[in-house]
Amino acid sequence: MKAKLKEELLKAKQGKYAVPAFNFDNLEMMKGIIEAAEAEKSPVILMVTESAAKYMGLDYVFAFSLTAAIKATVPVVLHWDHGFDISLIKRAIDAGFSSVMLDSSLKPFAENVKETQEIVAYARQKGVEVESEIGHVGGKEDDRNSSSKGYTDVQEAVEFDKQTQIDALAVAIGTSHGLFSGEIKLQFELLAELEKNIKTPLVLHGSSQVPLEDLQKAIDLGITKINIGTDLKMACAEGIKAWFKENPNGFDARKYGRNGVDFVKAEAIKKIRAFRSNNKA
Ligand code: 13P
Repeated sequence: MKAKLKEELLKAKQGKYAVPAFNFDNLEMMKGIIEAAEAEKSPVILMVTESAAKYMGLDYVFAFSLTAAIKATVPVVLHWDHGFDISLIKRAIDAGFSSVMLDSSLKPFAENVKETQEIVAYARQKGVEVESEIGHVGGKEDDRNSSSKGYTDVQEAVEFDKQTQIDALAVAIGTSHGLFSGEIKLQFELLAELEKNIKTPLVLHGSSQVPLEDLQKAIDLGITKINIGTDLKMACAEGIKAWFKENPNGFDARKYGRNGVDFVKAEAIKKIRAFRSNNKA
């Protein structure tokens, strides 16, 4: 069933778990995510980025992801992730997405506030919720590369939250999108300060390859939405590669595709259990 973002995140906060937010780039990944959530009785956030939507075709992805959200036996928040293009964000709102993320985090504070307010005003009229980011989680974001602008500043985040009235706030506490090189060191004290000062549910981006114990500590300190993209892309590729290793002359898309689904499903189940969202649907 299609679900509301903030309601699911507030339940997670109360229940001391996080709702897994998974990106998908093709039908196999989407099926693996939904099957994992259903098998584990977990709420889930199904996320589409701009470049994934362009790859799958905007109208196709709107149609099949909405169908998946409505048909699922568990709560599914259908979320437009890392929106840079305001006109595309508005199309996702019009198409019936549950929530959208505007990412103007590299822009100056006042501009980020202004653009977020514009999206919030548009989304509210249609009952759609909004996530925005303050500070900047760098790395390979969708199809863009950027370096980190640094950690989220607590006072700036409080002010941003007050001025924009968003439903979820993405913060930069040391993660980075995509494949990681070097050590991941999350700023737990900063997270605790943010949590103490901000009522809006907090979101962690760039969470692939972060040790699960660190993600669990972040959940204990108040993170309620954890974004995972790269780990599922890798699982899908591994599944398909493994199938071709066994069947070098194979060609049936339903068979190698199914192996991709199974690997994505197994990886998503690992995350769901680590985030303690199993049996919370
Ligand atoms: P990863 O690809 O690093 O998991 O990041 C995903 C993400 O944050 C999407 O918004």
